[in-house]
Amino acid sequence: MERKVCVTGAAGYLGSWLVKRLLETGYIVHATTRNLGDPYKVGLLKSLPHAETRLRLFEADIYDPCEFRPAIQGCSFVLHMATPLQHQPHPLNPQFKDTTEAAVAGVKSIVECCIASGTVKRLIYTASVVASSTLKEDGNGYKAQLDESCWTSPGATLAYATDSLKAYASSKAASEKELLRHGNEIEIVSLTLGLVGGATLLSSIPGSVDVLISQATKNTSGYNTLRFLEELLGKVPILHVEDACDAHIFCMEKPSMNGRFLCACAYLSSAEIANLHRMIFPDIEIPVEFVEKLKRKIVWGSNKLKEAGFEYKYDVKTILEDSINLGHKLGELEIQPSRV
Ligand SMILES: NC(=O)c1ccc[n+]([C@@H]2O[C@H](COP(=O)([O-])OP(=O)(O)OC[C@H]3O[C@@H](n4cnc5c(N)ncnc54)[C@H](OP(=O)(O)O)[C@@H]3O)[C@@H](O)[C@H]2O)c1
Repeated sequence: MERKVCVTGAAGYLGSWLVKRLLETGYIVHATTRNLGDPYKVGLLKSLPHAETRLRLFEADIYDPCEFRPAIQGCSFVLHMATPLQHQPHPLNPQFKDTTEAAVAGVKSIVECCIASGTVKRLIYTASVVASSTLKEDGNGYKAQLDESCWTSPGATLAYATDSLKAYASSKAASEKELLRHGNEIEIVSLTLGLVGGATLLSSIPGSVDVLISQATKNTSGYNTLRFLEELLGKVPILHVEDACDAHIFCMEKPSMNGRFLCACAYLSSAEIANLHRMIFPDIEIPVEFVEKLKRKIVWGSNKLKEAGFEYKYDVKTILEDSINLGHKLGELEIQPSRV
């Protein structure tokens, strides 16, 4: 039997890796991107092994959410990864005032299309830990652990937040909440990922890898984002791109699954990340202004995904090693650091 799945945001960092894994596994993939006239993105997807026979491309923009319907039609699963990072109103659909309104409308429309299709068994949403702050609602410190009960309050004062980080956190939290409201109409899994590192099929460094290696590359804006995550979440949850994509396939292939699942293999402070960089690559120098010594006792309290049977293949050392090697390959680190 043909196994058709739809991946939105298929030409991005996670999307392209997921499409590669799905094609390798034998799925027929309906992949969406905003512009089928973009030779780089279309070329990347078409160059994947088995693309010639198993890949179909569709054009769809969240700012015109009905555009996802043809890509969803006939699929058994929808993996919704696309997310608007910049506010870019559609000329025919100018009503959304920011990325949050657009992302929520996108989620609503995709849920409706899944239900109307009559073929979609489950919708899997790529959520982010930026929606699961451990800060207490009263603004008085942190909760004891990070788990699925944690949510980022819309009005919270967030340290290190730039306008784009605030907009991202708001749109991810609002769209994840909107999606989970429909869990009694269709099976919905919200896979709430930590910061993803590792390899890429893209020719430039993915944003999340840039953040993860920002102390080694002395990248102040990336480090600001790392500190934003640390202040929002207590510490920083991280995982490897291969595990992130395999977790999506796991959530799809389980006979039944519904609800919110946090997904990360390690929960580290930024100072612990800096120490690990130096331990793996002793010639990496990290200036003191890129190391914040914090003493927090918050722990990772989510076991739901593991209890459902998912196993992480990549440990934190491999995640950082692959991310640093990628940084070197793509020109973010001038010298190839040697390993211990
Ligand atoms: N990387 C991480 O550490 C991480 C962690 C947690 C969650 N996530 C989530 O994982 C998903 C993928 O992230 P990523 O790291 O792979 O980022 P990415 O490389 O920037 O990919 C984002 C994708 O969203 C699509 N997109 C942007 N604006 C859109 C719009 N208006 N309409 C339709 N599609 C649009 C882009 O597609 P085109 O440019 O091809 O049109 C792109 O493929 C996102 O939902 C993100 O929130 C990522």
